[in-house]
Amino acid sequence: MNLILLGPPGAGKGTQAKRLEDRYGLVQLSTGDMLRALVAEGGPLGLEAKTIMDAGRLLPDDLMIRMISERIDQPDCAKGFILDGFPRTVPQAEALDGMLAEKGLVLDTVIEMKVDDAALVERITGRYSCAACGAGYHDQFQKPHIAGICDVCGGTAFKRRADDNAETVKTRLEAYHRQTAPILPYYQARNVLKPVDGMAAIDVVTGQIEAILGV
Ligand code: AP5
Ligand code: MG
Repeated sequence: MNLILLGPPGAGKGTQAKRLEDRYGLVQLSTGDMLRALVAEGGPLGLEAKTIMDAGRLLPDDLMIRMISERIDQPDCAKGFILDGFPRTVPQAEALDGMLAEKGLVLDTVIEMKVDDAALVERITGRYSCAACGAGYHDQFQKPHIAGICDVCGGTAFKRRADDNAETVKTRLEAYHRQTAPILPYYQARNVLKPVDGMAAIDVVTGQIEAILGV
């Protein structure tokens, strides 16, 4: 099964992708995570990526297309994948179709996570993750069971993303509406687009997605 999770910044793509990985044995392909790994390496391309990401703008299509195409070729993707953060523009969606056809793969479902803009700022500015294992949390909506200790690995250091501030969120939301939302009719026309109510609680959203995908 190959899926896309589509939605604005803070919609819950990463949160749900992690759960679907466990539930269906799929691999999460987050272009945002790949880029943050590139930034952490500290090379010139990472430095360039950081400037663009911190400003809330999108990186060039050709770079992102190449990055995903190479990643899909890795053996672990043979069991199926969840695209999180890609495609993000119409040219990326068209390129994805081309690369899947070339690789003999099929896109099964595109889940659209619908969330009001007003809720997104609160979600993003309250987000943090475990510095050791990357497990995601929120100041209000997803706290660790024991304050200050990661549920997954027991780590005690946490971090926040450099682009998770109110100013950058505004630009990221504008980029979503201007560059990413035009993908929706593209998939709707092919009858693979399935909307879910991303305003619901995290467990409820997971249930909606599972109902679409089947057991
Ligand atoms: P990326 O990392 O993809 O960020 P994004 O799309 O802005 O999405 P987020 O990761 O912020 O949100 P999410 O939907 O994963 O939400 P999450 O589950 O964490 O991209 C970052 C940057 O990289 C881009 O701005 C761009 O510069 C670049 N980039 C990446 N891909 C690119 C591409 N293809 N082309 C060009 N450039 C690209 O949830 C958010 C918070 O809310 C969490 O704290 C969570 O606990 C909480 N939460 C989740 N669901 C709920 C719920 N239902 N109720 C309450 N709280 C919830
Ligand atoms: Mg994410």
